[in-house]
Amino acid sequence: MKSFKIGDIEVRVPVIQGGMGVGISLSGLAAAVANEGGVGVIATVGIGVLNEQPFRNYKKTNNDALIEEIKKARALSNGVLAVNIMVALTNYEDMVKVSIDEGIDIIFSGAGLPLELPKYLNGSTKTKLVPIVSSGKAAKIICSKWKTNYDYLPDAVVVEGPKAGGHLGFKRDQIFDENYQLEKLVPDVVAAVKPFEEQYGVKIPVIAGGGIFSGKDIKDIMKLGAAAVQMGTRFIATNECDASQNFKELLVKAKEEDIVIINSPVGMPGRAIKNEFIDFVNSGNRKPFNCPYHCLRTCDFKTTPYCIANALIRAQMGKTNEGFAFTGSNGYKVDKIISVKELFNILNEEYNSAV
Ligand SMILES: Cc1cc2nc3c(=O)[nH]c(=O)nc-3n(C[C@H](O)[C@H](O)[C@H](O)COP(=O)(O)O)c2cc1C
Repeated sequence: MKSFKIGDIEVRVPVIQGGMGVGISLSGLAAAVANEGGVGVIATVGIGVLNEQPFRNYKKTNNDALIEEIKKARALSNGVLAVNIMVALTNYEDMVKVSIDEGIDIIFSGAGLPLELPKYLNGSTKTKLVPIVSSGKAAKIICSKWKTNYDYLPDAVVVEGPKAGGHLGFKRDQIFDENYQLEKLVPDVVAAVKPFEEQYGVKIPVIAGGGIFSGKDIKDIMKLGAAAVQMGTRFIATNECDASQNFKELLVKAKEEDIVIINSPVGMPGRAIKNEFIDFVNSGNRKPFNCPYHCLRTCDFKTTPYCIANALIRAQMGKTNEGFAFTGSNGYKVDKIISVKELFNILNEEYNSAV
């Protein structure tokens, strides 16, 4: 697989491990991926909640936890390390500022349009900024607004299709519509960034994510113009993934029919592994709760049927029926837990033997 660049950062293997919250991709997974030459990504959503139960100061605890995870990852790897910060977070600004202060290599930011992200750079030239979009239109809006307002262009763009795990940037009826599949989106996003590349003499590589599973998938999507891929689900079933063993085994055991679309309090549909918890809330039931964190701008805790932060944290910790696990549409293909090194070797072999 060919190396590529995000700004002035050389990425030896064009595989970005997608940020996975809550607590699925922390320093352990991110460092292991960075050590194999890919980009290791720490998910910032709810990062402090894992350390402190019950909870005191949401913002401070999250800031401290992020600093600690970045330092831990740096101690384990000299490779390329990044963070994933969802625009919908109430502590978005704090997570961005802390990451830049800690000298993180790259910030990936989606789940909303990160229109103001460059303003936080404040003169820093180390940290690169990469928005996550689900259409060429969104890529164009971001390039244009960033250039006009901050004289900055994205260092790369991730386009995530509807086969991804976690929250999906699509309406329910678009998820299975062939016009919105990744193969259609990649050429659109490549075309959307091209005028900016040409006008300003820069490179804006397009990274494709959502349903990429094998080395052949990587090769196929690159033929459509992607310079790299972002993969989430396959990294869950690795020894180094920061989730509990129960969480990983849930994925290994999942069958195709267990993978379902849910409505999330984030205000977007999501893809997850069906279980008792999901059956309960999908049947219109409510899990009453006192909102302990106010973690999402888009969540109205008075009307939302459950607390997504608690549901995801419990699953991460292994109490899988008290919450649920997100997965990509290809999650059922995962059949065992392996090391990150083995996964990179498999992807490499598959890529090289694909025609
Ligand atoms: C368990 C899980 C948690 C995720 N959490 C986040 C997140 O916190 N922020 C985000 O932008 N994307 C999140 N995603 C999306 C991934 O970063 C990745 O882009 C996506 O899963 C790629 O599709 P794939 O899983 O089919 O490879 C999550 C995905 C999964 C499976």
